[in-house]
Amino acid sequence: MNIILLGPPGAGKGTQARKLVDERGMIQLSTGDMLREARSSGTEMGKKVAAIMDAGELVTDEIVIGLIEEKLNGEQGGGFIFDGFPRTLGQADALGALLSKVGQTLDSVIEMRVDDEALVARITGRFTCGNCGEVFHDATKPTKEDGKCDVCGSTDLKRRADDNEESLRTRLMEYYKKTSPLIGYYYAKGDLSTVDGLAEIDAVEASIKAVLDKG
Ligand code: AP5
Ligand code: ZN
Repeated sequence: MNIILLGPPGAGKGTQARKLVDERGMIQLSTGDMLREARSSGTEMGKKVAAIMDAGELVTDEIVIGLIEEKLNGEQGGGFIFDGFPRTLGQADALGALLSKVGQTLDSVIEMRVDDEALVARITGRFTCGNCGEVFHDATKPTKEDGKCDVCGSTDLKRRADDNEESLRTRLMEYYKKTSPLIGYYYAKGDLSTVDGLAEIDAVEASIKAVLDKG
């Protein structure tokens, strides 16, 4: 089963994708994570996209489609979760073509609906484990022990360079201009389901499970 988690920055896509990986053995394909990895390993592409990401703008379709194509050709397993991809109509068309090239289909697109006010609090309170990638939040998901990841015990807890109010404003603008048209695109294809992303993490997980189990 291949699915897309669609929603604005801070909607909870990464949080829910990790749960699906743990519970269903699916493979999370986050273009944001791939781009951050390219940055931290200092590749040419990483250097090129760093400033764009920090400003909150979208990198080119060509780059992210290339990243996804590599993964689709390389990985196998219990289905893909596309997290933060596609983000433009061009990327959505490319994903359809790439999946059919490897003999796969898209089963479900889950829109995680959250209002803008909640997003600011979500983004400015977020921190992540640099070792295992677990996502935390100062108020809604703090670590059990101060300064230590609950999952792997690492003390390498980080905040993202683009998690500030100014970049978030640009990220939201990019979302509404370029990504939100995908809601209509997938609705028209009959692939779209919507869940309430404002609910608590476990409740959102249950809504997603209900969508996936319905088939
Ligand atoms: P990316 O890394 O994809 O960031 P994003 O879309 O802005 O999404 P986030 O990771 O910020 O949010 P999320 O929905 O995963 O929320 P999370 O689960 O962490 O992209 C970064 C940049 O890379 C882009 O700006 C762009 O430059 C570039 N890029 C990436 N993909 C691209 C593409 N396809 N095309 C072009 N450019 C691309 O949750 C947020 C916080 O809220 C956490 O602290 C979490 O603990 C908390 N939380 C989660 N769920 C709940 C809940 N239900 N209740 C309370 N708190 C919650
Ligand atoms: Zn960890």
